[in-house]
Order: sequence, then structure tokens, then C-alpha cells
Amino acid sequence: HLTTAAQGHTEHTGHTGHTATARSVTSLTADRDRTADVALTLVARAQRFRLPTGRSVDGYTLNGTSPGPAIHATVGQLVEVRLVNESVPGGITLHWHGVDVPNAEDGVAGVTQDAVGTGRSHTYRFVAGQAGTFWYHSHQVSHEQVRRGLLGALVVAPARRPPTGTVDVVALLHLYDGARTVNGREGDVRVAARPGDKVRVRVINTENGETPAWVGGAPFRLVAVDGTEVNEPAPVRDATVMVTAGGRADIEVTMPADGSPVRVHIGGPGGVVLGSRSYDAPPAPRPAKKLDLLSYGAPEPVGFDAERADRRFTYEIGRRPGFLDGMPGVWWTVNGHMFPDVPMFMVAEHDVVRMRVSNHSGESHPMHLHGHHAVVLSRNGVRATGSPWWMDSLEVGNGESYDIAFVADNPGIWMDHCHNLPHAAEGLVAHLMYE
Ligand code: C2O
Ligand code: CU
Repeated sequence: HLTTAAQGHTEHTGHTGHTATARSVTSLTADRDRTADVALTLVARAQRFRLPTGRSVDGYTLNGTSPGPAIHATVGQLVEVRLVNESVPGGITLHWHGVDVPNAEDGVAGVTQDAVGTGRSHTYRFVAGQAGTFWYHSHQVSHEQVRRGLLGALVVAPARRPPTGTVDVVALLHLYDGARTVNGREGDVRVAARPGDKVRVRVINTENGETPAWVGGAPFRLVAVDGTEVNEPAPVRDATVMVTAGGRADIEVTMPADGSPVRVHIGGPGGVVLGSRSYDAPPAPRPAKKLDLLSYGAPEPVGFDAERADRRFTYEIGRRPGFLDGMPGVWWTVNGHMFPDVPMFMVAEHDVVRMRVSNHSGESHPMHLHGHHAVVLSRNGVRATGSPWWMDSLEVGNGESYDIAFVADNPGIWMDHCHNLPHAAEGLVAHLMYE
């Protein structure tokens, strides 16, 4: 990706002397001489590989598999990943989707680093600052490289150990050549769980579209969204969780006392089947009602005052004919501008930033902000009343408008783009930049 350094037209409303929750970026940046707690090498290769069903995929692997190895860390640990590009043409990177890493570790080719060419390597180092469900993927020609398999799960566990009777499952959804897979396999993923166990299924949507998830055989709670715990999540029956493209939803189920199995549907009839004696959980119909994050859970303070924002921006998504890289077409626009001529959103460290994201483009867009988590204040003028809805990936439907807010606490240049990755390639990209 190329980027312009064009200055944005920003409305500066003056510092308000708020006391935003301070997060020290230096605490996320590791000392050079600190040894890594989690260290691994990921070797990227262009190859033909087989899904467990036997279907052969012409794609990209990390250490011979796709998805690549799931990375597990604990809060406070230093993660060090050496990325080696053995044979992927055009260069590669790794972006830590949803992790608020220091800017130099963000993995955006052309912005925070050069793409890693074949025969070369690059080492990423960051301290896992927040527990939660995340993922990693290439951010070079992302629409192609992610689709072809340069991705994997990243789970950061809280420092405190989970109680016994807790089962933790990653469920990474990905489409290979039209085959919908969970953790690289078509069909069900089976996980052993005893009656009374609490099972946390970490749904990661790496597809380009919003994906429904629902549960058959037990009520569930949506315990985390995009890596942040929901405050007081109530048990849900008969509702579907919509997982934004790029987004994560942690679904918690308590296994029924009678030993019957539970099916967590992810995107369709398949998904994760939890059981003790049998895994014979019949598919459950998808509930028509959608769980609305605007009103789910109980409110609690977010740590800053969004009403007294230092900066207010609009991010209006549209579409019009024009030229992108000299190519005529009908392209996405941000505030009427076409990439790369989209003015940057300029902020200063510690600013409270408010943004109104609205969409009149005729299609839905999963918007992803790098390096920050934002809280949703309202949708179409209706204020949020539930648990603070912290997100890094937000589905903005056609005709919708969201007010979001965040604290600018992570200096650098950060992308704010559509995670329907072909849309990003078609110009639905803007940047946030610190003065
Ligand atoms: Cu997961 Cu800029 O992307
Ligand atoms: Cu889009």
C-alpha cells in the first residue's frame, strides 16, 4: 500500500483536561535485551496443501500449515515472532489484528515496514498488553494473501489461571477456494467437555463478510467481543451473534448436566461440537433474532469522557466513478475522496477522539482501526445502553451511522480500513496520524 502524507481537515476542539485512562506505550515496547517469553519462527511458503477432507488448495502456508500455528501468550509476556519468507512472491508481512502493538510492529507494508521479500526475514516483538482473542495475517496485498492462507490465531490469556472445568477452544473461520473451514478443516471440530464444564469458544472471523454464530443444545453467553470482556453478559437463548469480518466473538457455554452435546454453529451447519459421551449434536436452526451489542450486558465507565472530545471526525463511506492507480472504475470514497487522496485524521497523543462513521455506498463495510480499540456510543442516533462495546472491527451497514470514541494513546500512523479486503484494495482505506 502507498500512503499520502496529506493533512486532514480536522476540527480541533481544544484540550479539555480530561483524565483519560493512561496506557503507557513504552510499557508495550520491549527492551532490546529482554528475552522473549514466547518465541517462534514462522516460515511462509507458496505451496499446494490439502484440507483434511482431501481438497487440495493452491495457497500459502506458515510452517507448512494454514492456518499457521495458533500463538498463545499470557498478559505481560514478550512475544517475538521471526517471519521468514521462503517462497511467497511479492513480499509478505504480519499484522497483529486487534492487538494494540507499538506502531513499528504493526506489519503494514509500505507504512510501518517494507514487505519481506523471498529469502528474507523480519522479527516482530511486542508485549501482549491485553488478554483476549486476536489473529494475525499478512498485510501485503492482503486481499490475496489472507485469502490464500497467511493467517493464524493469537490468544492472550489473563495472568490468572482459569479454574478447573474450563475448556478453551479456538475456532478460526476461513474460506479456502470456497471451502468454509474451522481451524483449517471442513466439517465439525469436536472438543471433549464434561457436564458442568464452562467452555469458551473463541470465534475468529477471517472471512470478508459478516458471519452468524449460534448455539444449539444450551444457552450461551457472549463473554468477549474483539478481545474485550463484556460486562455482566446475560445468558442468551434463541439469538444469533453476528461476527464482523476481522472481528472476534467469545461464546461461553456451560455443558448440560445430562451429558448431552452442544453445537456451536459458525457460519452454517458446521462449527464446534462439544460433548462427553457423543458428539451427535443435530444442527439447530439459526435464530432470526440478532443479539444487539448496543444493549447487551451492563454499563460501566469507559475511563474517559467522550462528550468532551478533543477531536471530532466524520468518516463517510461513499462510492463514485473515477480513477484508482490510473484504473477507471467505480471506487469507494472516504469523505468524498478516493484513495490515496484521503486526508489523514490528525490527532495528538492523549486526545479523546470521536468519529461518526456513516455509510451511503450501497454495500456494508466491516471497518477496522489499527492500534486502538474504540467504544461504540450510538447507532443511527440510538445510544448504547449495554456493556461498553469496545471493538476494533465494526460492521457498518448501508445507510447506517455509528458514533464511536477512543483515546489516542498509541502514537504512529494507523490504518482505518474496510476488512472486506477486496474493498480495501478498491480504496476503502484511510489513516489516523499523530501530530
Ligand atoms: Cu486485519 Cu489492516 O487488518
Ligand atoms: Cu467494505
